[in-house]
Amino acid sequence: MSEAGFRDWKRYVTDDRWSEIYSDYQQRYVNNPRESDRKSAYLARLALLESGVRSARILDIGCSTGNFLRHLRRVIPAAALYGGDLMEKHLEECRSAPDLRDIEFTRMDILALPNGNPFDVIVANAVSVYFDKPEYELACRSICAALKPGGTFIGFELVFPGDKEQQFVEPSDAHPEGLKLELRSEDFVVAAFKKAGFAECTVSPFDIPIDLPPRESTQEEPDAHLYSRTERDPITNRRLLWRGPLFQPWAHICARRDSTS
Ligand SMILES: C[S@@+](CC[C@H](N)C(=O)[O-])C[C@H]1O[C@@H](n2cnc3c(N)ncnc32)[C@H](O)[C@@H]1O
Repeated sequence: MSEAGFRDWKRYVTDDRWSEIYSDYQQRYVNNPRESDRKSAYLARLALLESGVRSARILDIGCSTGNFLRHLRRVIPAAALYGGDLMEKHLEECRSAPDLRDIEFTRMDILALPNGNPFDVIVANAVSVYFDKPEYELACRSICAALKPGGTFIGFELVFPGDKEQQFVEPSDAHPEGLKLELRSEDFVVAAFKKAGFAECTVSPFDIPIDLPPRESTQEEPDAHLYSRTERDPITNRRLLWRGPLFQPWAHICARRDSTS
């Protein structure tokens, strides 16, 4: 528990009960990637096509049970793939999965990534949504140092266009004392990446192409009511993503490290 009374990310990454719940949630996406993961993989492929790199090294940090890497292998078969996370149980699950045996999994903190053997692309889907501002800026510097010059970071995060930002503490069955989510502003995110040494940073709101129906919680899935659901915006007709009472401005971040430094 943090001083402010909610649980911060340092506690949840070592919580075995949460790791089991999250692993169960991930099961449904083993062969059927989420739309946001399809887009992250597409952005990674695009970055490599643009840079002309053929045998790339790609890290998925916060890889959880490895589903994004499964998908990435189909999209970029020639790349050498690496997975990193702080959750030991999930890393063990990845290491013992026969279909992931060609991928190296290592305990890694996105705030202090190894920088001796840099990556062409680093992806982090839904990892830094729990960090406070100094931690977020630290993550940007750590990612920058772990990328080759000209390398690309792809993130999937909660980012509002412009300068709006919001904090939200979400109590759930898995985190009864509440887990704090940081909904950042595009202005802050772009500034943090540029300050860390990235030449470019773009934030693209995620336009989910499918409907996600609301879910009722059950005894087996007590937090199902908090899974993402879509509602149509009557003005733009776009699908807006909600989670319980929270509007989620999910967006893809694409940042390119300066190629000269
Ligand atoms: C919400 S889950 C997202 C998992 C996966 N990327 C996905 O999109 O399904 C966040 C993941 O990031 C990991 N994580 C949280 N803080 C981390 C940190 N500082 N360094 C590395 N991984 C971290 C967690 O253990 C968890 O697996």
